[in-house]
Amino acid sequence: MDTPNQGSPAYTHATYAHIIGWGMAVPDKVMTNDDLSAFVDTNDEWIVSRTGIRERRIASEKESTATLALKAAQRALEVADILPIELDMIIVATSTAEYVFPSTASIVQNWLGASRAGAFDMSAACSGFVYGVNMAAQAIRSRSIQTALVIGSETMSRILDWQDRSTCILFGDGAGAVVMRASTVPGGVLSSVLRSDGAGWDVLCVPSVGSRDLDGSEIQPNGHTPFRMFMDGPEVFKFATRVFNDSVSQAVSDAGLTLDDIKLIVPHQANLRIISSAARSLKMDESRFMVNLDRYGNTSAASIPIALTEAVQQGRIAENDYIVFVGFGGGLAWGSMVVKWGAPKPKEEERALLKSQRRQLSYSLATLRSRWRRWIKSINEFFARLSPARGRMARLRDRVDKL
Ligand code: COA
Repeated sequence: MDTPNQGSPAYTHATYAHIIGWGMAVPDKVMTNDDLSAFVDTNDEWIVSRTGIRERRIASEKESTATLALKAAQRALEVADILPIELDMIIVATSTAEYVFPSTASIVQNWLGASRAGAFDMSAACSGFVYGVNMAAQAIRSRSIQTALVIGSETMSRILDWQDRSTCILFGDGAGAVVMRASTVPGGVLSSVLRSDGAGWDVLCVPSVGSRDLDGSEIQPNGHTPFRMFMDGPEVFKFATRVFNDSVSQAVSDAGLTLDDIKLIVPHQANLRIISSAARSLKMDESRFMVNLDRYGNTSAASIPIALTEAVQQGRIAENDYIVFVGFGGGLAWGSMVVKWGAPKPKEEERALLKSQRRQLSYSLATLRSRWRRWIKSINEFFARLSPARGRMARLRDRVDKL
């Protein structure tokens, strides 16, 4: 195995995990509170006053957790100006994965043509993005990888009970992504606090195929239904307001900072009242919290990277600013982290254009490669259905197998 010599950069410099690219994707279809009140007993005034949400995005039939993740990822790669082949790790934080397996991350890896990357999904509900960024940062700082793509992507509309007014009004669909890269410049992810209290597993849950919580019938005595979200709203509210401040304060102090040093808190976008309550108890002005839940609702693991992307686009984060991500939700699980922002280096026009074309080529080649493999598979299946006694056909099949 190659090991760097003593005195080489790998030994003399610490490695930091910086965010160098960001992007988001939301479906075009907007569902307003008035749209909701057409089929469930609710109204705009109640929803806005109790949650702050005015509208949310809903995926079309052609959109899915993976397609939204792909779009957000492509935009993040564009900002980072790197090629898919440079990615070492892809993490998709989601509660609405395309399949139980394979991971949504593997699907995205294939579509991007990120042929050198490992890929896996992260299950930590609405805290998933913070957990994912932490995992990627650890891998970068330990130098086992250089570059990671962390995505939060959700199609919450597919697991909602649209008759249940206490849950269906809260959630929306979307995806956000960041590219993270190793650097010797101090900064990036400075501290992380990840916690869980599994005793609260049943206040917010979606039973799946392996659940001991289900007895095979559609409606369960405990109100839990397969692949439908169950939530005890007031309990979740109490939990969120309890853990928000403690975990933010811990992460900030672990980074050697005080709350005064923090430019912007980018919280999970669950409910404006949760954010306002946190602002009051942290004694921070609400203007120092990024809020966009009025337009997207709660997009679970996608909410922080979507809010981050909009915060950057609105010029609310500058180089060397300290920002905080804080997520909380099903598990119960929660997490906070402090990031020292470092803007990516300016693009060299010509090089950037060339890389952009190479990225497009990578996506097209990935699609072709996927189609080619499926085509070969169907030819093999066709020959397998023919009698093995037909020697000529069998020889032909061998030749196709060798292609
Ligand atoms: N429209 C109109 N009325 C509604 C309603 C709706 N969409 N949803 C609930 N109500 C009614 C209830 O039926 C209840 O009526 P009642 O008093 O006649 O029984 C009343 O409003 C109060 O219900 P309650 O559940 O106590 O309301 P709340 O103030 O706690 O607000 C939530 C409900 C869900 C908005 C709130 O608990 C919440 O936001 N919790 C956190 C949820 C969350 O963030 N989850 C994701 C975390 S990741």
